[in-house]
Order: sequence, then structure tokens, then C-alpha cells
Amino acid sequence: MESVIGLVNRIQRACTVFGDYGFDNALPTLWDSLPTIVVVGGQSSGKSSVLESIVGRDFLPRGSGIVTRRPLVLQLYKTEQGQEEYSQFLHKGNKKFTDFSLVRKEIQEETDRVTGKGKQISPLPICLSIYSPNVVNLTLIDLPGLTKVAIEGQPESIVQDIENMVRSYVEKPNCIILAITPANQDIATSDAIKLAREVDPAGERTFGVLTKLDLMDRGTNALDVIDGRSYRLQHPWVGIVNRSQADINRNVDMLAARHRECEFFASSPDYGYIASRMGSEYLAKLLSKQLESVIKARIPGIMSLINQSIDELEAELDHFGRTVVVDARAQLYTILDLCRAFDRVFKEHLDGGRPGGDR
Ligand code: GDP
Ligand code: NA
Ligand code: MG
Repeated sequence: MESVIGLVNRIQRACTVFGDYGFDNALPTLWDSLPTIVVVGGQSSGKSSVLESIVGRDFLPRGSGIVTRRPLVLQLYKTEQGQEEYSQFLHKGNKKFTDFSLVRKEIQEETDRVTGKGKQISPLPICLSIYSPNVVNLTLIDLPGLTKVAIEGQPESIVQDIENMVRSYVEKPNCIILAITPANQDIATSDAIKLAREVDPAGERTFGVLTKLDLMDRGTNALDVIDGRSYRLQHPWVGIVNRSQADINRNVDMLAARHRECEFFASSPDYGYIASRMGSEYLAKLLSKQLESVIKARIPGIMSLINQSIDELEAELDHFGRTVVVDARAQLYTILDLCRAFDRVFKEHLDGGRPGGDR
């Protein structure tokens, strides 16, 4: 059976496709109700690096300044050992990308296609799926970095525009916030934490991620943050060591970087005792588990929204061509059947008398 995360990915893709058809009112509510993980942080805090570490591949456009200019919806699917890794873009149909440098190129070109070559941003998402034996099932959304000043070639409104875009994602109660904060900067000034605190004051759906632990001044450590003394969250903080710019320039590969990250924690006098709860691999597993449990809890709500969307599609029959509506409705029915199947499995687990149900 498909994973629950795969199920939500299908609904998400369906919503995006319908958005392209112009069903503006029918599906936003459904999309909004889907649990997602959103990566939030200041420019150059390490957002794209964290995503690449989670995927274990080098595929995101990078550089200093504002590189991520459209939301990137990244859907990861775990495949069988030995299978070839590949990617697909929603806007490219069935075309398979096996060369990840071409994935990067396509993200750049598709960004420019909508925003122009400048430094403008657009809220229109790019959907990318990655199929690989080396990932966990997970959906993540990369967003433009929060910034404090407009740069040459950008309208003054960009600072607020970016913040509004990020806020429109993180304010939804179903959004899991991955708040990226560089360790070589005072946590009190973290853009990610500032925004997360506003929309999730109890810290129930925020995961604090501390990057650049390797760049802290000698003799200092981040234990105050990691142990929750600086800023308390319901979930544990996770420390990360990504590749430095020098590593990227030297083409240090992701696998080597992951090894080095593990070694950094294992051999550290400060973090050695919590090494098993640090690093990108641990973060990926933690997030996958969290996403899965949130989705399971929401399945009944998602089903009723799909039913509602089907009704709305029926109502729009007059408005749009019959074939489009019939296609859209058929897709929703397929998804609804899947939801029902999942729901049944979870209920059976519960009835089976296991305390705590489907944990
Ligand atoms: P984004 O703008 O938030 O997406 O940040 P990037 O992931 O592009 O990272 C910005 C810069 O910081 C790049 O040069 C990275 O190599 C570097 N960087 C990110 N994380 C770390 C880290 O944990 N350690 C070190 N040394 N450099 C990092
Ligand atoms: Na950047
Ligand atoms: Mg980035």
C-alpha cells in the first residue's frame, strides 16, 4: 500500500493541476488543509543546504543573495534499494530527470519563466518529485529567504512581499515549520524564530534547526539553544553541519558531507552525548514520522473536504468544459477511495486493541 505521505502528495498535485485549469475557488481549502513542512529562515541561513542534505543530492540553485524566488514543493518518494534515482517536474509531464544538475537548471529556468530574469519573486509554486532509495517519504516546501532590505533591482516592497508569502504558509494550523537558524548568530535575532513565535506561540508545530554549528567561535557551543534553555519548543532542536561554501566550490559530495557531519557530532566534546539526535539524517527521520502522524490524525477532515470539493466541481460544470470537470472529478474520486482505504486500516489498528492506536 502507498504511504500516507504519498497519499497527501497526490492530493497536493491534484490541487496544483486544478489550479492550472483555473478552478480558483474549489480547491484552495483542500490544499490548505493538507499537512506540509515549510522551510523558513533568513537569507543564507542554510535553508537550501538543509533540504539538499535531507535529500542527499545536490540539485538546488544556489549562490549568495536571493536565489529561491518561487516556492518549491519538493515531494520525496522512497523506492526499492538498487533502483535508479530520478526526478519529475509537474510542469514537465512524464519527463524523467536522472542528471540532478539538469534539475537545478530547470528550477532556474522555470523560476525565470514566471518572474523574469531579475530578482522578483512569485507565489506560484514549482512542484518537483524525487524518487530514490536513499530518501524518506516526505514533502517539504522551500521558500524565499526572509530579508531586511531590498537590493539593487528589487522593488522596495520585496521585504514585505517575501514576509507575506512566508506567512501565508506558516500561519496555517496544518503547517509544520522548519525554522532554520544559523548557530553563529544570536538566536534572539533569528528571523525564523521571530515568525514562528508569532504564528505558533506554544511551539507545537515548530521544529528548530540550528545550522552552521561548525562555524561557532572556538570555546563556545549551542547547548543553551539545543537543550531548549534559550527558546523552548515542544519538539527537540536539531543541530546540523552542512557543506561550507568552500566545500561546494571543491565539489565535496553529499555522501562525504553526511559522513563528516556524523563524525563532527560523534567526536565533539560538547555534542557527543546527544550525537544520535543530531544531524540531517536524524532530522529527515524525525520529520517523516511527524508528518505521518499529523496526516493520520487529519484523514477524516481531508475526506470531508474532498467530498466538498467534488460538490463544488459539480457546481462548476456549467462554467468549465465538461471534460475538464469530469477528469478533475475522477481524480478526486480516486483520491477519496485511497483516503477511505487508509482510514479503514487505521481504524482496524485501533479496534485491534493496541493501546495508542496506530502509533
Ligand atoms: P539559504 O539562502 O538559506 O538557502 O542558504 P544556503 O543553503 O544557500 O547557504 C548559504 C551559505 O551558507 C552557503 O555558502 C553554504 O555553503 C553555507 N552554509 C550553510 N550551512 C552551513 C553549515 O552548516 N556550515 C557551514 N560551514 N556553511 C554552511
Ligand atoms: Na541564498
Ligand atoms: Mg535558498
